[in-house]
Amino acid sequence: MARVKAAVATRYGGPGVLKVRQLPDPTPSPGQALVRTRFIGLNFADLMQRAGVYPRTPKAPFVPGLELAGEVVLPGPPGLGLNAGDRVVAYPIFGSHQELIATDLAAKIPDAMDLQTAAALGVCGMTALYAIHHLGRSRPGETLLVSAAAGGVGTLALQIGRHSGLRTVALAGGEAKGALARSLGADEVVDYRRPGWKRRIAAMRFDLVLDSVGGPVMRACWPRLAPLGRYILFGFSGAVGPGAFSRLKGAWNYLRTPSPHPLHLVSANRTLAGFNLSLITDHRPLLTQMLGEVFDLWEKGDLRPMVTKIYPFGGITRAHADMQQRRTTGKVLIQME
Ligand SMILES: NC(=O)c1ccc[n+]([C@@H]2O[C@H](COP(=O)([O-])OP(=O)(O)OC[C@H]3O[C@@H](n4cnc5c(N)ncnc54)[C@H](OP(=O)(O)O)[C@@H]3O)[C@@H](O)[C@H]2O)c1
Repeated sequence: MARVKAAVATRYGGPGVLKVRQLPDPTPSPGQALVRTRFIGLNFADLMQRAGVYPRTPKAPFVPGLELAGEVVLPGPPGLGLNAGDRVVAYPIFGSHQELIATDLAAKIPDAMDLQTAAALGVCGMTALYAIHHLGRSRPGETLLVSAAAGGVGTLALQIGRHSGLRTVALAGGEAKGALARSLGADEVVDYRRPGWKRRIAAMRFDLVLDSVGGPVMRACWPRLAPLGRYILFGFSGAVGPGAFSRLKGAWNYLRTPSPHPLHLVSANRTLAGFNLSLITDHRPLLTQMLGEVFDLWEKGDLRPMVTKIYPFGGITRAHADMQQRRTTGKVLIQME
């Protein structure tokens, strides 16, 4: 039996539990295509899967990974609309950290798009777009706050914000990240790893907040939501420590996250919303529509993923550790060797 290279989460835990192993070739089920991975788009969710704290995570050992770009080996049924050799993105939700993947969630990419761009654009682009346009219903002239603004989602959210006529405020950890956010058009940058950041936030007002950190960030930013404002909580990275995920840090972040009473939303004219893109895969037409919108923005030149580092597949544990320790900026890819 042929074998494929895979990064296996041997048990739930820190980056060190991820081991490169040879697994049997995946066999597609009747509704699936077989795709050869060329680039893996690393997402924060992959770290949460590895730690066993992501929704629907399989029992270990398993192969984590939401996102990849590559080529179709076996096209699957006609309903998938694929042909052998097509260049595609795929979102298996679990399993992108391997050479070959059987999936029913794959889509062709535009002819002019290279595979690196494709691997970097989809999940982060759809997340930013869904938060700003679909849930956030942004209007030109409004003020948008983006947390983790120099990261994969953040750098695309700043671009979408700028092209949507929004004034953008970036929360970014450290000077280099702040500089990146500014280069992408952030009107104001707040370094939330420096003392005094909450005082700066306390002097601001936001119509739309994209918060992927929760805890102290939500505690500082929720009260600054303007009447008619929308607060979109779509991540909880503040619960994460630099090594293994700690239940204690998670519990602390949970307790520090405000939970406004619904009646107070009514009297303050505020919206609090949340979403998880991987669960939107249960609503396939919406996902297809959003991916199309992201590709359109890319074709118009309005959306450019910031690929800052490409790790070799053998360095995938290092890539996980770097993201978890907040050392990455923009989008990180892993190249299948
Ligand atoms: N709900 C969804 O469907 C969905 C989809 C995609 C992503 N997300 C969420 O969006 C966020 C960004 O995802 P991404 O893949 O683009 O990652 P990323 O932003 O490229 O990397 C994570 C960044 O989060 C910030 N961060 C804040 N507190 C952290 C902590 N305690 N530990 C580690 N990082 C921390 C760091 O930036 P600073 O140093 O600037 O703080 C870090 O660089 C994540 O929270 C992710 O779960 C949600």
